Amino acid sequence: MANTISKEHLLSSAQMAHFVARGFLRFDELIPDEINQAVMAEIDAGGIKGAPAGTPLSQCYEGSTIRRLLDLPAIQGLIHSLVGPDPLFDHDAVHVREPNQGKAQGLHADSIIDPRPTHFDIQIMYFPHDVPYEMGGTLLVPGSHFRRINEMEIARYQNIVGQVAMVCKAGSILVLHHGIWHCGRQNQTDQRRYMFKVRLNPQVRQLRLWNTDDLQDGYANHQEIFGDFKPGENDIQAILAKREPWFENASGRLEIVNRIKLWRFLTGDDNFDVHYWLTRLENTPERQLAF
Ligand SMILES: [Fe+2]
Repeated sequence: MANTISKEHLLSSAQMAHFVARGFLRFDELIPDEINQAVMAEIDAGGIKGAPAGTPLSQCYEGSTIRRLLDLPAIQGLIHSLVGPDPLFDHDAVHVREPNQGKAQGLHADSIIDPRPTHFDIQIMYFPHDVPYEMGGTLLVPGSHFRRINEMEIARYQNIVGQVAMVCKAGSILVLHHGIWHCGRQNQTDQRRYMFKVRLNPQVRQLRLWNTDDLQDGYANHQEIFGDFKPGENDIQAILAKREPWFENASGRLEIVNRIKLWRFLTGDDNFDVHYWLTRLENTPERQLAF
């Protein structure tokens, strides 16, 4: 599979940096309407069947429209970029929200607290029809993926500054880091809401799996960072330094250090830094002066 995905379908370094910084990527109207309609019909017929956890994804959904969706080059490219070739199926879920619900889901992260500092799973969320604001959709807290929590233990918190409600057109995709805080909002319309989710586990070391052609171009000169540097759209250090509104103080340094660690893991570049923040923490000299 790795050799059959053309570079144009892989994510760029800038997109990967956005994923590292915010814990998700969004692709609007990516899936053709013919697949959207077929998936909803399949959901209504109860025809979407996952597989035992740990099954290679290539062996899942045979004969289903979900298989066609997963085989789209853009979907193959984003999966490969984040978790490598033929990841393992973890679980899936068809979330249906009935019309005029009076209750939203509490904020949570899926599964129990996950101590892995760098390796990560992804969750692909697929919205097969238009989701206006009143219909609810998934709500998430960008940048929350490093604050590991145990399932619903944060459910008492509501309306965190910076949260994003997924309002989208049919065929849109969210790809989430497994640690992201999220919930399903209430559906206040007269129509059912559908969302399909699948979680995937990598089978390979997550090391430069995307299209790295823009990797070096995305690094600003460190001198510029400390000077009057004006970050460009694709500047990786600037992307990784961008604060979320909920960060605990003006700098958000703790979160940015977490991002640096994940970026080092993904690129294999142990010297990468943003504003010297991690390098400073690593300075533990052992050299002794002669007496
Ligand atoms: Fe969830």
